[in-house]
Amino acid sequence: MDSLEKAELYAGVLRDLDAVLAGITDDVTAMATCACLLHERLPYASWTGFYRVVAPELLRVGPYQGPLGCLEIPFTRGVCGAAARSRATQVIDDVDRFPSHIACDAAARSEIVVPIFDGAGELIAVLDIDSHQPAAFDQEDRAGLEQIAGRLRAYLASGRAALADS
Ligand code: SME
Repeated sequence: MDSLEKAELYAGVLRDLDAVLAGITDDVTAMATCACLLHERLPYASWTGFYRVVAPELLRVGPYQGPLGCLEIPFTRGVCGAAARSRATQVIDDVDRFPSHIACDAAARSEIVVPIFDGAGELIAVLDIDSHQPAAFDQEDRAGLEQIAGRLRAYLASGRAALADS
């Protein structure tokens, strides 16, 4: 897919996310809908989903599409852990060259992980997409997914109490 096709694809996902989730504030519903739209639309995605922060420095699998994902990932491990630790998107062209990569799916070749923040700026999850193609994800994916991550905030219940308190 060229850059223009990717840009159009992400614009479509964003549009549909807003249309489907209008009026909803529920973490599971928002994440499940987002995982479904992305997985259905991205031809190079083999696993698409969320790992949620469930304890200090610990991620646990949330809504996803694809083969069975591993259940828990400490912040010290994997591409997901690196994204959670650094609070920054990780784009990995070749997962075999990422030292602590966790191979849930032996056929996975590349991966992108985007941090998800709630309205109070707390890290609440990461969005992880794997591909069987090497170097499947580029700057267009990063931009599109970071925009989606930002928009998702409007549909999350997490952090609203913190916002209300401030
Ligand atoms: N590969 C990830 C683990 C999650 S699965 O790919 C679904 C990682 O290294 O963090």
